[in-house]
Amino acid sequence: MKTIQATIDRNEPNPYVMGKAARIIRAGGLVAFPTETVYGLGADALNAEAVMKIYAAKGRPSDNPLILHVSGVSQAASLVEMNDTARKLAFKFWPGPLTLVLPAKPIIPPITRGGLITAAVRMPNNTPALELIHASRTPLAAPSANISGRPSPTDAESVFHDMAGKIDMILDAGTTGIGIESTVIDVTNPFRVLLLRPGGLPREVIEDAIGMRLEAPDSDSAKRSPGTRYRHYSPSIPVMIWRKGDKFPGDETCGYMGVDEPDGLCCGGKIMFTSYEDYARGLFAGFRKFEADGFSRVIVQWPENDSGICGGLRDRIKRSASE
Ligand code: TXA
Ligand code: MG
Repeated sequence: MKTIQATIDRNEPNPYVMGKAARIIRAGGLVAFPTETVYGLGADALNAEAVMKIYAAKGRPSDNPLILHVSGVSQAASLVEMNDTARKLAFKFWPGPLTLVLPAKPIIPPITRGGLITAAVRMPNNTPALELIHASRTPLAAPSANISGRPSPTDAESVFHDMAGKIDMILDAGTTGIGIESTVIDVTNPFRVLLLRPGGLPREVIEDAIGMRLEAPDSDSAKRSPGTRYRHYSPSIPVMIWRKGDKFPGDETCGYMGVDEPDGLCCGGKIMFTSYEDYARGLFAGFRKFEADGFSRVIVQWPENDSGICGGLRDRIKRSASE
């Protein structure tokens, strides 16, 4: 399969290109598109055969459910059973990096929700993404557009690297703004909201909005969030964590990423970030760069606190370094 690559303006995407992308979606094909977090690999969420192609292209276990990307609260309400808490959060934080898990309506094919009775919905804060959902006249099932287990793509080149020849089209609108994926919460029980995956929207911001702490899923509901079971976000070279103040474990064969300069002659390659937001934006691309440049491993700085974007950043660093 030849993968069409189309560059579009992130604020005013070419209508001809968007029309073509929407026709591919309607015909059951796969289109990678930008969101504010990472690039997604989209298919018609209500077309089981199209959704099956997503799992095949990514090499993703088919019991790991997908997020349905919607153009607004009313489209979400056609797919899942919204409750007052979910509606409040959606009105407050959409479009944005917040994914809500809720009881699924029968219209969603089981393959899209990984066979679960719940489904995940989110409205992305990105013009090309929203225009694609509109033009396709259907919600888009979209995981991150990487091969399963690899770092998520934050630019179209990374999508091309993993997906060339396997998908129909890539919409290229440059680098994504947040760089790590959305925060996923389970709102099925509005009196006990669960944080399934920290991400772009800080947990404390959500807690302020609902006046309640987000709870950790118990082992039973962890089983219901299958994404957390698999190895994730890892380049083909090992990732090691460095805490500021500790002895630096690197040498000239290593690449380093962080906000603080490590002491002395540390490494062969270095990516320094000016803030933790900047770090989150560049983490996955940094993994891919050090891998492509032939370094033996990547050393990453452990964020010193857990607030703001650091909640999600710590989670991605921990998972990419494990195993
Ligand atoms: O920012 C994002 O969320 C990106 C962009 C493309 O929107 N998408 C993304 O999708 O990260 P993916 O498939 O890589 O991660 C979806 C996560 C997985 O951990 C999955 O297990 C969880 O959401 N999930 C989806 N549906 C669920 C459900 N019904 N119950 C529990 N967890 C669910
Ligand atoms: Mg992913």
